Amino acid sequence: MRTQAVLDAATVESLLTAAVAAPSIHNTQPWRFRLDPGNQVLEVHSAPERTLPLTDPMHRAQYLSVGAAVFNLRLAAVHQGWRPEVKLLPDPHEPGLLAAVRLTGPLGAEDQPSDPDLYEAIARRHTSRMPFTGRPVPEPIVAEMASAAHAAGARLHVPDIAGTRRLLHLTAAAEARNHAHPDRTAETLTWINAPGASTPYGIPATALGPPDAAGRMPMRDFTGALPARRLPALWFERHVQLALLWTPHDRREDWLRAGQALQYVLLTATAHGLRTSLLHQAMEWPDLRIATALPRHKRCHPHVLIRFGYGPDGVSTPRESGHSVARPAGPPATDTEPG
Ligand SMILES: Cc1cc2nc3c(=O)[nH]c(=O)nc-3n(C[C@H](O)[C@H](O)[C@H](O)COP(=O)(O)O)c2cc1C
Repeated sequence: MRTQAVLDAATVESLLTAAVAAPSIHNTQPWRFRLDPGNQVLEVHSAPERTLPLTDPMHRAQYLSVGAAVFNLRLAAVHQGWRPEVKLLPDPHEPGLLAAVRLTGPLGAEDQPSDPDLYEAIARRHTSRMPFTGRPVPEPIVAEMASAAHAAGARLHVPDIAGTRRLLHLTAAAEARNHAHPDRTAETLTWINAPGASTPYGIPATALGPPDAAGRMPMRDFTGALPARRLPALWFERHVQLALLWTPHDRREDWLRAGQALQYVLLTATAHGLRTSLLHQAMEWPDLRIATALPRHKRCHPHVLIRFGYGPDGVSTPRESGHSVARPAGPPATDTEPG
């Protein structure tokens, strides 16, 4: 008879540390974890108090962020020798319960083994908002990134020069709208932390990047009405390497899948020494999101643009520790369904 392996506190801690290292929109870290030790289940809940009502009214970006955290949890579980079984949206009566990761037992010979490079990339990955060198990324690496997206249930489209220009143009249009929308700008600004601030959420001002001197790269301007905080413009890479992450459906579970795929792509890129940053602005305006869809695909639901290349590493951003966002199993929190 096989005795059931028991999940110890150190393992739970390391799984949660990996989970919270995931990227999240504006570093909102919109997740909460609950451990059901009896069943060896880690539940992943949405954190309703850390949403962006204007930027992300449907909570799609929140689900992407949570999906990325779930992917890290899975990877860390395998790294610790556990077999994770992931159920997305496991309970229709608890809409805020976005995923349940059950550790069903030790990895067996038939299971996919841990990928140490991918696991190590969890801690090394940071969003890099600086100019990249423009050195082309070899095709096999791009193909590996696309396979990663596919394996997680999403698709990665790498456009040609004209397609890239089109996506940048749509992002620039979204960025201009955001700028002209004082309430959205104010919402974004609340997630930017002054130097020395001790909050574990939000983006430190030191992690922001400069605007593009050529005006070609529509990086998100987080500084809004505070131009004093804006860095001097720099020249960004002329040939931007961009990928569009999309799914063939647009349901809540697809958003969680897209988030897992996003993280799989980012970690694959990081493991190969690439830097990445995200351009999400066009997805925040329904007409522009539709316009970013691939013209030849009837069912293409875009989620985010991934900029990748070689360049300086990003600055690390704070996290609320996995331990302090975990609660023991008990009555559900006041989670709500996306509005
Ligand atoms: C769904 C999603 C959308 C994002 N959109 C943007 C964006 O438009 N511009 C940007 O600079 N960063 C964007 N980010 C990156 C986050 O700001 C970043 O992940 C967060 O600040 C944590 O920093 P880290 O990625 O370095 O760990 C996005 C992240 C996610 C998950």
